[in-house]
Amino acid sequence: MENDIRKIPVHVSIIMDGNGRWAKEKGLSRIYGHREGAESVRASCRLAMESGVKYLSLFAFSEENWGRPKEEVDALMGLMLDSLVNERRMFMDNRIRFRVIGSEQGISGEILDRIASLEAETRDFDAMTLIVFFNYSGKWDIMQAAEKFACRKSAMGSSGTSGDVSDKEIFESCLSTYGIPDPDLLIRTSGEKRLSNFMLWQCAYTEFYFADVFWPDFREKDWALALDSYSNRDRRYGKIK
Ligand code: IPE
Ligand code: IPE
Ligand code: MG
Repeated sequence: MENDIRKIPVHVSIIMDGNGRWAKEKGLSRIYGHREGAESVRASCRLAMESGVKYLSLFAFSEENWGRPKEEVDALMGLMLDSLVNERRMFMDNRIRFRVIGSEQGISGEILDRIASLEAETRDFDAMTLIVFFNYSGKWDIMQAAEKFACRKSAMGSSGTSGDVSDKEIFESCLSTYGIPDPDLLIRTSGEKRLSNFMLWQCAYTEFYFADVFWPDFREKDWALALDSYSNRDRRYGKIK
């Protein structure tokens, strides 16, 4: 299809999976795989920007990941802290807005403070927005939104309405992703074909792309294949074209 090459997704989201298996295949510890995965994060930031993607979101730690051995969880927390320090220059130089979405429960004060200051420092940047989903789960998001929604509705009084704003719009404004467009393309690496409790609400009409490579091996060629696949999709949203 002739113009398809120009169909670039506004928001690309990635379930970065397979760090452990990548390391195991090489006889290395899982932690080493996570470190190498951080290299793919840097590469993806660059490739997303070069491709004209405006939002790149990365699933870095799920609520369920707390169930892993303590050493692995500690290593993942340590890597997050290191990235918050080491990548600051890259965000500043490239005018990338940085955001973190997820529950603060169980996250150290040091990490939370660094997230807050990096978010504040980059809040006016508009070359691209990088969103890290950290201690996130889709069900958590829907639950916290439901609580906010109930408060807002009761504050609206007996009519329970707010002019022209629909309940769906009010509910969406309660989700942790409010203001960020829903993902156009969701990539999952490592060959797994599941959502693993990621953006359950927001992926209602997202295009999925499953790559067979492990996350530390997901680089330029794989990005090109994913974008190429997206540009050939026909998004109908339930209608007829
Ligand atoms: C993804 O890689 C990183 C996180 C989930 C934090 P995994 O650690 O899940 O690697 P595999 O799936 O066990 O190979
Ligand atoms: C999903 O990967 C979570 C992240 C990438 C952060 P998992 O490896 O935790 O997912 P499952 O357990 O294979 O579903
Ligand atoms: Mg995994």
